[in-house]
Amino acid sequence: MDYSYGLSMGLHTLASVVWVGGMFFAHVILRPVATELTPVERMVLWRKVLPRFFAWVWLSIVMLLLTGYGVLLLGYRGGLGGGGSHVDIMQVTGLIMVGLYVQLFFGPWQGFKRAAAAGEIERAVDYLARMRHIVATNLILGLVTIFVGAVGSLLGT
Ligand code: HEM
Repeated sequence: MDYSYGLSMGLHTLASVVWVGGMFFAHVILRPVATELTPVERMVLWRKVLPRFFAWVWLSIVMLLLTGYGVLLLGYRGGLGGGGSHVDIMQVTGLIMVGLYVQLFFGPWQGFKRAAAAGEIERAVDYLARMRHIVATNLILGLVTIFVGAVGSLLGT
């Protein structure tokens, strides 16, 4: 019996839970509470929290792409264009998510770290706002992608 398709989809699902669940916690649970802190406290909090989360996001992205494209390229779903339209939608939304995350990581996140190190609170808070907008977009895309992926797998569309 060949378990590689099932195993890949298990890892694919776990990676999506870690990434999207992490964004949900950061954006919906932690952020509203953090707004009650002073700007300096907020800066320190996110400076300590985000590197831990980002390490898991990189790992999740590698896992999602490896397992997603692995399944397609190894022919379990009939090549790159294989699978139903849910797989095409997932590729588009998934690759947009990856692009936005890479932009966040190498753009505002690096700027935020520099501003935090220099003690430039206003600039750091500005970068935080830019990251918040990207995360809000990626969270919505991630929830849609999981919904489409899970429903599409069941319906086989
Ligand atoms: C960008 C490249 C991606 C590719 C090539 C890809 C590919 C696939 C494939 C081939 C399946 C199996 C579909 C089926 O059995 O009919 C799948 C399922 C799934 N994908 Fe993706 N995916 C990608 C990105 C993502 C992302 C970014 C997420 C979520 C954040 C995600 C979440 C899911 C979920 C939840 C399932 C359903 C798993 C199940 O119920 O068995 N995928 N994906």
